[in-house]
Amino acid sequence: MEIIKVQTQPFNGQKPGTSGLRKQVSIFQQVHYLENFVQSIFNALEDFQGKTLVLGGDGRYHNRTAIQVILKMAAANGFGRVLVGQGGILSTPAASAVIRKNKAFGGIILSASHNPGGPDGDFGIKYNISNGGPAPEKVTDAIYQITQDISVYQSIETADIDLDRLGSVKMGDMPVEVIDSVTDYAELMETLFDFERIKQLFNSGAFSMAFDAMHAVTGPYAKAILEDRLGAGNIVLNGEPLEDFGKGHPDPNLTYAKELVDILYGTNAPQFGAASDGDGDRNMILGQGCFVTPSDSLAVMAANAHLVPGYSQGIAGVARSMPTSAAVDRVAKQLGIACYETPTGWKFFGNLLDAGKVTLCGEESFGTGSDHVREKDGLWAVLFWLNILAVRQQSVQQILKQHWAQYGRNFYSRHDYENVDAAQAKTLMDELEAQFDSLPGKTISGARITFADNFSYTDPVDNSRSEKQGIRIGFADGSRIVFRLSGTGTAGATLRIYLERFEANTDLHDLDAQEALADLIQIADELAKVKHYTKREQPSVIT
Ligand code: G1P
Ligand code: ZN
Repeated sequence: MEIIKVQTQPFNGQKPGTSGLRKQVSIFQQVHYLENFVQSIFNALEDFQGKTLVLGGDGRYHNRTAIQVILKMAAANGFGRVLVGQGGILSTPAASAVIRKNKAFGGIILSASHNPGGPDGDFGIKYNISNGGPAPEKVTDAIYQITQDISVYQSIETADIDLDRLGSVKMGDMPVEVIDSVTDYAELMETLFDFERIKQLFNSGAFSMAFDAMHAVTGPYAKAILEDRLGAGNIVLNGEPLEDFGKGHPDPNLTYAKELVDILYGTNAPQFGAASDGDGDRNMILGQGCFVTPSDSLAVMAANAHLVPGYSQGIAGVARSMPTSAAVDRVAKQLGIACYETPTGWKFFGNLLDAGKVTLCGEESFGTGSDHVREKDGLWAVLFWLNILAVRQQSVQQILKQHWAQYGRNFYSRHDYENVDAAQAKTLMDELEAQFDSLPGKTISGARITFADNFSYTDPVDNSRSEKQGIRIGFADGSRIVFRLSGTGTAGATLRIYLERFEANTDLHDLDAQEALADLIQIADELAKVKHYTKREQPSVIT
């Protein structure tokens, strides 16, 4: 096998964000752009010679091309073998499961998650470590450093391999195993959930569901698990993965999964609805005429984990990202277990999960997961809910209402202002921060501010520090407004405003979240001059 060394020059801006390097496809298509980043990943790693790499992506445009490039570079750089998903497909949680099951050195996941795909859409690449989780900041920082003065990358000259045929082939001297994308993952799910009981639920004649795969990666997974193994019937919508996600925006929320929302809020609605995103790590949970916020979903899961075989022995603790509502904190308190508050991004859960400090974790951004893998996991969350529904024999709405009656309701909403001017968004944040000293004690529209800070986090396992993870404004009644700039967008800036208010009074639990939070929404605008800086009258997405 002849290794070729290709001269190259650094590209600006190859800095991994909240979840890997995400850019427009056209940027990734520049000569050497992908190669530079992949070589920088390899240069940042140590002692991987002869070891196993897992490789796959969400099937978006450029996935197959990128996989062939990476296979050649992996061979040239000395990996012992690569496991690649058939057709280049591995959902993000499945990739995590495959890394763990095969004790691989690490994995490369090609995805821009919920960002649109196609020639005009986005592409992305992310490195995961041997625990199956996203590389921690010290690794991504090292990769970025290397991208800034890279001058050569290594590859081999050889024909592409057939990604669609299962089995072992060689790329140069390196074996490549094309594996079934679903099997390992589905087997793991069977160890966690009561498949028999869920099957009975589907067979009862009184229960049906709709799953929207949004033409993204979960189609084959949902069909294999929900339809084939669990006998759910023909319930998967948009189940064929397409390179451009059917021109949709594969983000399972009330705006972008409208087709599913309309079904669940329409006449003859099924009892349960769920959707997943581009790479299969997000989930949205719906009941008949009812939406479960991801923050509530995490809390309900924690409160009902004892009903689910994989968690019936008890959960060690829970973790949520800072902007996620405190609903799960109340459950943790009652269970007498620890609850950790981490910065946004799944990578911050890795150490807590590895150390056995937490079993369940989640983010308000439609992410929930557990220690079964080191990524958030969309279908896992759907199965978790199905297991709860099968045991409790109640509707989603009944379960939610009973939950609020027991713990109180954390009214919650996130307002996104997408693709606003980046400089203006930065000024908004800077000006908010400049007010920190004067805010505590101040009353605005009748609400007294008790604290204002920029969230920082010390990892309790390795003591690493992460600063400036989002501006928090706290109020005397426990309400909270959080301001953050997205770290995953590729155009302009996205301002996220997270609003939360606790309500103990059961009589008020049926209020619409936007109504219940109206005062806070107004205060957020006053404090940060949101309309002024974003030049928008309304958020682009409300969840
Ligand atoms: C967003 C979400 C965050 C999630 C990430 C990757 O990041 O807010 O919770 O971990 O996508 O799915 P953001 O764009 O806010 O940086
Ligand atoms: Zn995703």
